[in-house]
Amino acid sequence: MNKYLVTGGAGFVGSNLVQELIKDGNEVVIVDDLSMGDLNNLKNVDSNKYTFYQRSITDKQFMEELLVKENFDYIVLLAAVASVADSIERPYETHLINQEANIDIIEAVRKNKLTPKKVYFASSAAVYGDEPTLPKKETSQIKPLTPYAIDKFASERYLITYGKLYNIPTVTTRFFNVYGPNQNPSSPYSGVLSIIQDKLQKNTEFTLFGDGEQTRDFVYVKDVIQAIRILLEDERAVYDVYNVATGTSESLINVIHHFEKNMNKELQIQYYPARVGDIKYSAADISKLKALGYQPEYDLARGLKDYITHS
Ligand code: UD1
Repeated sequence: MNKYLVTGGAGFVGSNLVQELIKDGNEVVIVDDLSMGDLNNLKNVDSNKYTFYQRSITDKQFMEELLVKENFDYIVLLAAVASVADSIERPYETHLINQEANIDIIEAVRKNKLTPKKVYFASSAAVYGDEPTLPKKETSQIKPLTPYAIDKFASERYLITYGKLYNIPTVTTRFFNVYGPNQNPSSPYSGVLSIIQDKLQKNTEFTLFGDGEQTRDFVYVKDVIQAIRILLEDERAVYDVYNVATGTSESLINVIHHFEKNMNKELQIQYYPARVGDIKYSAADISKLKALGYQPEYDLARGLKDYITHS
């Protein structure tokens, strides 16, 4: 049994991870200010099995005291303003959460000479921007185009460099298009699959931006959890960054057809011009993560089936 800190543990990826950690008998402490997360995401978990603090990770003193008091085995940094649009609306506030708070956490680990087995940070494929060479490898050109992408990239680099310089085992990932239960569909900038699922359920119209031929590597959240756990536990995964995806891209229109088949419903689609700044094609090279034993278990058909069953 290990003691985990999960920041953003009531959020989309966080809540899915917490469920698995608790299932395996680990001790879990969650810090989440519920600005994006929701305790309802943890409804399937016995609340006696975790400690929950409704606090912002920007509360530096609170975070430092917690880190010192609990002396975690693993620190998992998932709390973030997860929306690119939000980061454009409120760039400075986002920066304090998506970058500064994470540096403060690793600095508290350094300053207090804490010895976690691993500190993990979730970065994003957004760091690759719109440079068109595909598939994206971890060594591909970085071209952050938004405050969100800049902060994700900076935090990723801080975590890796702090780790190397001060001997704190750290590892980071770049998520591609994650989908699954507990993803909030409420904003037009939410993950597209959560929006489609919501529209199908409510029989309301879906706005498709572009011709539907845009491609993405949609990765099911359970595969993301598999990746995180490998990276936490494998000692070879240190001071480094890994793409997290499936290695296969699908067009949006194909995904919609899969969804329709699985839910036995037709989606009402209204076509709009492509969004400004939208990337047409995206694809991930995941060979680096696969070399550690990662094997995505959910292709789109299986992932969507599981998603529909669990939401
Ligand atoms: C994703 C990330 C974003 C990141 C970008 C670059 C999410 C939610 N967004 O954006 O943070 O900067 O990768 O790696 O993970 N679409 C519609 N109708 C809708 C919503 C979306 O047609 O109602 C389209 C979009 O225009 C896009 C595609 O669906 O072409 C996917 O959209 P989205 O889920 O927002 O992901 P990305 O655009 O890939």
